[in-house]
Amino acid sequence: MLLATALLVSAVSAASPPPAPPAAFFAAHREKLAAKLPAGSIAVFHAASAASGASTDPYRQSSDFWYLTGLNEPDSVAVLLRDAGDAAPRFVLFVRPRDFSAEQWTGWRAGVESAKKDFGAAEAYPIDEFWSRFPALAAPAGALSYESGGDEAFGRRLLEAWGSSDPYAGAVRPVSDASPLVGELRLVKEPLEIERLRAASRISAEAHKAAMAAVAPGRGEWDLKAAMVGLCLSRGAARMAYPPIVGSGRNSVILHYERDDEPLADGGMIVNDTACEYGMYASDVTRSYPTSGRFTPEQRKIYDIVLAAQKAGFAAVKPGAAFHEVHDATARAIIDGLAALGILSGDRDELFRSRAYQKFYVHGSSHWIGLDVHDAGSYGFPPGVGRLERYSKAQTKLAPGMALTVEPGIYIPESSTADKRWWNIGVRIEDVVLVTPQGMECLSCDAPREAADVERALGTDRRR
Ligand code: GLY
Ligand code: MN
Ligand code: MN
Repeated sequence: MLLATALLVSAVSAASPPPAPPAAFFAAHREKLAAKLPAGSIAVFHAASAASGASTDPYRQSSDFWYLTGLNEPDSVAVLLRDAGDAAPRFVLFVRPRDFSAEQWTGWRAGVESAKKDFGAAEAYPIDEFWSRFPALAAPAGALSYESGGDEAFGRRLLEAWGSSDPYAGAVRPVSDASPLVGELRLVKEPLEIERLRAASRISAEAHKAAMAAVAPGRGEWDLKAAMVGLCLSRGAARMAYPPIVGSGRNSVILHYERDDEPLADGGMIVNDTACEYGMYASDVTRSYPTSGRFTPEQRKIYDIVLAAQKAGFAAVKPGAAFHEVHDATARAIIDGLAALGILSGDRDELFRSRAYQKFYVHGSSHWIGLDVHDAGSYGFPPGVGRLERYSKAQTKLAPGMALTVEPGIYIPESSTADKRWWNIGVRIEDVVLVTPQGMECLSCDAPREAADVERALGTDRRR
């Protein structure tokens, strides 16, 4: 009975948006951030601007602003003041005041009272008072950290105000970007964040099954996209985590193909990289499969290499491993597989060192994932490292609670040096994994991955 109740609760919670996290979730982040700021600092965060133009998506707060406040509104500024002692930071919010005549046009507002009562601000003021109050707030501070939330004009004005708020300062007052500090905090996920990543990934896996079932002759890339977006929204996702990528045939080799407007290519591969955001947390899942419902021998060979590469990447994910070891494991498996097929030739160590494999495996195996699909947090790249060599140089050590993708791929375009029979085959297999004390847990692997499971899940299969 207990088990049945628990199952019921999780089934219900996966079909609606999650409740707001408790205020303590955000207060803890403010305290942890303040502990990282130099004593006597002021930190200022501007909310994301309201989107302009048509979008089916609701307003999305800047991830850092949300992580520190939980407030989901534009035209807001959060201020944290850390004095010289160990006291909790003073938290001041500037928000849009309640005003029904404005709310009737653009939506409900938290307002000044709720900023204090529900969002934990010690003081709250209408946003229009920010510039007049900033000099007094900043006067005792010796250093400023800030994020403009994408509002460049705000950032410029803040720096001017900061520079001029102490006319007697002999030297330029120190200023820094707050995002690396918040990024350090966001790198290790807490239980509530893990639950959301898990839910986003579970829903995304379900959406992939729906897309596979929708594959049929005469259908288009858009049909798969529609099946997935519909399923995600019906499960309580506020939006997709990134624009869906559904590319078939020659489009399967285009990494960020977002048009999704061509008929499914007869006999071609489909690369479907689509996932939702749930309760502000992203998933990122790719599955690749044949339009026909059955892999051709060539498609299957490439698929098996990519799947073996992903499994090698999974095996490399464990506490203490350096980030680059995951990429390296996938690259070595891809080199072995392509060399066995004669698509790459030469010494395998040399193919790895020279990065010759990047002709077919053109991206890295992994990125952090959390509030953003490409999440905050350092990769530990050495300074000055080039874009294409950095994948094998990322030194950050994995630790329990970190979340990353493992997403090897092979793309063989028409112009390729490979034999013609491999042309237009694109395969990427991507999942979200959580680093655990024992190794890792795949959060999205409910989406079929083994070739036989993929063929079984394809709608075309049922008609034979
Ligand atoms: N969907 C974006 C990525 O895989 O990184
Ligand atoms: Mn990804
Ligand atoms: Mn992806």
